[in-house]
Amino acid sequence: MDSIFLLSTTTTITIILYAAVVVVFFTFIFINKRRCPSKPPSSTVAVKRILSGTMGWPFIGETLDFISCGYTDHPQSFIDKRRLLYGKVFKSHLFGSPTIVSTDAEVSKIILQSDANSFVPSYPKSLTELMGDSSILRINGSLHRRIHGLIGSFFKSPYLKAQVTSNMRKLLLKSMAKWKEDGPIYIQDETKHIAFQVLAKVLIGLDPGEEMEFLRIQFQKFIAGLMSLPIKLPGTQLHRSLEAKKKMVKLVLQIIRDKRINGGSISQLDSKDVVDVLLNDKSEKLTDELISDNMIDLMIPGEDSVPLLITLAIKYLSDCPKALHQLKEENLEVKRRKKDLGDPLRWDDYLSLPFTQNVITETLRLGNIIMGVIRKAMKDVEIKGYLIPKGWCVLTHFRSVHLDDNNHESPLQFNPWRWQDRDTSSGSSTCFTPFGGGLRLCPGLDLARLEASIFLHHFVTEFRWIAEDDTIINFPTVRMKNRMPIWIKREN
Ligand code: HEM
Repeated sequence: MDSIFLLSTTTTITIILYAAVVVVFFTFIFINKRRCPSKPPSSTVAVKRILSGTMGWPFIGETLDFISCGYTDHPQSFIDKRRLLYGKVFKSHLFGSPTIVSTDAEVSKIILQSDANSFVPSYPKSLTELMGDSSILRINGSLHRRIHGLIGSFFKSPYLKAQVTSNMRKLLLKSMAKWKEDGPIYIQDETKHIAFQVLAKVLIGLDPGEEMEFLRIQFQKFIAGLMSLPIKLPGTQLHRSLEAKKKMVKLVLQIIRDKRINGGSISQLDSKDVVDVLLNDKSEKLTDELISDNMIDLMIPGEDSVPLLITLAIKYLSDCPKALHQLKEENLEVKRRKKDLGDPLRWDDYLSLPFTQNVITETLRLGNIIMGVIRKAMKDVEIKGYLIPKGWCVLTHFRSVHLDDNNHESPLQFNPWRWQDRDTSSGSSTCFTPFGGGLRLCPGLDLARLEASIFLHHFVTEFRWIAEDDTIINFPTVRMKNRMPIWIKREN
């Protein structure tokens, strides 16, 4: 999968000018050409017979079209146009690789569920440089399954959910107490700040303070390189990002050493953060270096996605007073009930509110924080009669499935009620895959829903607000053009 699709790092990206993207893109072309050869080693004839589509210009393919549509109000237009002409699965040439674009939910599901014998994630060179060889985002096979499983079950554990709830509530209330009524609050920035601290606590057990601030600053430098030119020379962005990663890894290694000295071997059940979980694993040889590297890599998908989810929810609610009213009523009701009992809300209280969950689900569907993922075929693979040749990339485009009116009625409308009485647990539906699926299903999905539920609860029960005009930008990552400024009034 390509970083452009997985990552939602606002950071870089807010300031990347169109021209810069084009430059980066040209570099990817040359790098990627080596990874995904533009001429498939076999089966060209079969693909031409079965799959329609155009390969665009030499080298560039159709990437410029893809990018320019991404910057407009109709980011879907690139895909919609071709889908009408060629069908739900078509061929193209994107980001330096011959690519099959799948907007067919069933085809995408099969691809996501395939193992590494058939498909592996594909990333641009700069990102693979920054992630390192043993990153969970890149590795395959038994080590990947082990690490993914350990992290996934820890993120699902009641212990972690309780810890996240109390930590996030503390951070959120502290932030909200500082909000002023006589100036705009930038929701995208506020949510980013809080979510980063929650993530650092979950991953490495860090509390707010100097080390947290150091990590935050270095992380910003690090992700600035995710979309950079893949040149490692001193003075280049990639070099600066690698240096920042080294500093973060050093900090995490120190934390690991302290844990080893102080904790000895605590049991898996006593694990307080992801570092503990991996340190306690006896079945695989997880070195300190592998663990510390992965802690930084885990921040890549975790850092920006949750803030975006919350920001988009607030954007959609601001534009839909009926949904906001119902959400507020539901949250006020639980707040009153818990107050009468003299208890604060627990993690399962936040997650038990059906309309709140429907708002989050609908935000995930309409917002498409991760528009899709890219895989590379390791051998010729046939799916539903389409032949995907070895060496080609496949873009499983979630956004097309989420915005297809055959799958979701009036798909461009924010309609949380559509999820009433429907199973919204991710992974269970072919037409709703905001968290991917199969072996690489996002392990952070429960965490994301919980954080969004906590934020929305406190936000809608404690404030009224007016949102300034702002627009959603969809490329290279989803974000608000003006960071979502709102003017608040505290509720009595
Ligand atoms: C709204 C929030 C989020 C969304 C929409 C999201 C979406 C996704 C998607 C689509 C994938 C699949 C990538 C693929 O198939 O290659 C993924 C993977 C992943 N996500 Fe999330 N994610 C979110 C939050 C988080 C959080 C909070 C974490 C916590 C660290 C996280 C950690 C990961 C990891 C580690 C992977 C890679 C799994 C693997 O390759 O085995 N995500 N995410």
